[in-house]
Amino acid sequence: MLTVIIPTYNEAENLPELVDRLCRVLNNVEILIVDDDSPDGTAAVAAKLAERYPVRVIVRKNRRGLSTAVVEGARAAAGDIVVVMDADLQHPPEVVPSLVEAAEGGCLAVGSRYVKGGRVVQWPLARRLSSRGAVLLARLLLPEARRVRDPVSGFFAFRRDCLASLKPTGLYKILLDVLVQCKPSCVVEVPFVFGQRTRGRSKLGWRQMLDYLRQVLRLAKWRPFKFAAVGASGVVVAWLTLYATSPLPPPISIAIAIETSLTSNYVINRQWTFAGRGTKFLSGWVKYHMATAVGNLANYLITLVLHIVGVWIYVAYLTGVIVGYFANYVISELTVFK
Ligand code: GDD
Ligand code: MN
Repeated sequence: MLTVIIPTYNEAENLPELVDRLCRVLNNVEILIVDDDSPDGTAAVAAKLAERYPVRVIVRKNRRGLSTAVVEGARAAAGDIVVVMDADLQHPPEVVPSLVEAAEGGCLAVGSRYVKGGRVVQWPLARRLSSRGAVLLARLLLPEARRVRDPVSGFFAFRRDCLASLKPTGLYKILLDVLVQCKPSCVVEVPFVFGQRTRGRSKLGWRQMLDYLRQVLRLAKWRPFKFAAVGASGVVVAWLTLYATSPLPPPISIAIAIETSLTSNYVINRQWTFAGRGTKFLSGWVKYHMATAVGNLANYLITLVLHIVGVWIYVAYLTGVIVGYFANYVISELTVFK
């Protein structure tokens, strides 16, 4: 048995066509509509459809949220396979059978706009850019999201067993929670064409984008902030080293300070920021040097030059560090702690 979960908010006009097209391509299906008490009467339309189609309706009063609606639907689903899709026909019902087939094979199946054969129809530039930015952010901060080209898709299918290990963040993109927390043994992407919405309106706004940012950071266990905190501790280590080695000529004492803080940063990042990634100590240490080489060289040169022109060495060092910081973070995420 299969359950198709459809979260809805003001989709009364879209439901009849959606349900009809779904039932043409699927059998032994339960269509579960999770509606947040839409003012346009979506729930009443759904109840009417339930007289002729295998439709079930859950109405949530005084609650709003796409992600929590999907989780509530999944918990109430009767099927072993669960499909999640939008109500507005931007996710073509005719693609659902391929998703189900992949999910039956034990995979998480993701309907994807960004693999060969998939695309988006007529999106304004701003929407295209924000979608690409969202994908980039998830793939940069979450190794699990790198398994798919479209980790922010709202169209996917999975086995209900996955719910056991799911602790939903309740923030916007349920697929990200599934990718990160269920750790599916296999993931398949099925291309589809994300059509235009012809009826009703999109609910994607600032609120959703902020929720998304919070969600990615939370799933990433706040790594960017931890990495920054470690960097700050490294500056203190370097200052102390500069102080302790102050009798030495500056070109040497600056180099020692950089190396000492580099190693202490590496040790703390390995134990704390990127805990659990199983990075081998020595090879990681070498890679960390290579990954941060550009930043460190910049740091060294800037510190030295500023010092020579008369800037107090501790301030010179801080300036050098800040310049090298951003490059280092990105390179570390992508190489050392992959
Ligand atoms: N129950 C409930 N509660 N449903 C909601 C809510 C809510 O607060 N907000 C939105 N929905 C439903 C809509 O009714 C629709 O069926 C579906 O969720 C998607 O909402 P849209 O407003 O159409 O979103 P979109 O088209 O802008 O965004 C879609 O594409 C994004 C990728 O670019 C969605 O699929 C997103 O999930 C996806 O990330
Ligand atoms: Mn939509």
